[in-house]
Amino acid sequence: MIDKTSPLPIYYQLVELIKGMIEKGELKAGDSLPSEREYAERFKISRMTVRQAITELVNSGYLFRQKGVGTFVAEKKIEQQLLGLTSFTEDMQSRGMVPSSKLISFEIVSSPASISEQLNIQEHAPVYEIKRVRLADGIPMALETTFISANLVKGITEDTVSQSLYDYIEKQLSIKIGEATQVLESSVATQQESQFLKIKKGSPILLIQRNTKLADETPLEVVKSSYRADRYKFMITLKR
Ligand code: GLP
Repeated sequence: MIDKTSPLPIYYQLVELIKGMIEKGELKAGDSLPSEREYAERFKISRMTVRQAITELVNSGYLFRQKGVGTFVAEKKIEQQLLGLTSFTEDMQSRGMVPSSKLISFEIVSSPASISEQLNIQEHAPVYEIKRVRLADGIPMALETTFISANLVKGITEDTVSQSLYDYIEKQLSIKIGEATQVLESSVATQQESQFLKIKKGSPILLIQRNTKLADETPLEVVKSSYRADRYKFMITLKR
């Protein structure tokens, strides 16, 4: 309910009310929201206030607007903990989702200078360049380009990268993966990203670059990923 005597702004109370209904499952992904007019009449508040609340919920990814049709409840975002060094396959399996990959390209190329430097190999040494769309329950989540030295990890095939790369490295080759650094930044989808991720060009995305090392410190991979910002959020626990 909306309490007009509360010091909390009315729009904020409405935001919390709608969020609560989504979290309790009273409003489900794909459900259409009552109109601004209906909310305004139901709570005896102005349409401007309703619009402010709805805009906030759209911006934070709880709702999405479809021009000329209405406002709908969005799919819940996947919350990814930034704690352990996990693979996409493990991340999705731990949520009970089915991971899959769509291979866009797979080739051995001569390493570009910036990649050679990060992998600590000679310029023009052979590297695998693997481009995959990563999906969860059949929905595209990220577009990922991986560079791995072909002299370090042998025998990668199209079949390997259609499944888990980390699984192949650790279980088939018995090579121990150590640690990684990861940098996150915001961006908007390019034409190519929008096509593979099935989102509109210019939609928000999260760019992640991971540089992973083996347990013996040898650089293993340089991975550039574009995650859908409407499906993903990242969470980190800070201790003091
Ligand atoms: C995540 C990381 C990548 C890593 C991949 C391995 O997506 N961002 O850096 O290469 O996991 O995933 P998988 O073992 O499922 O191929």
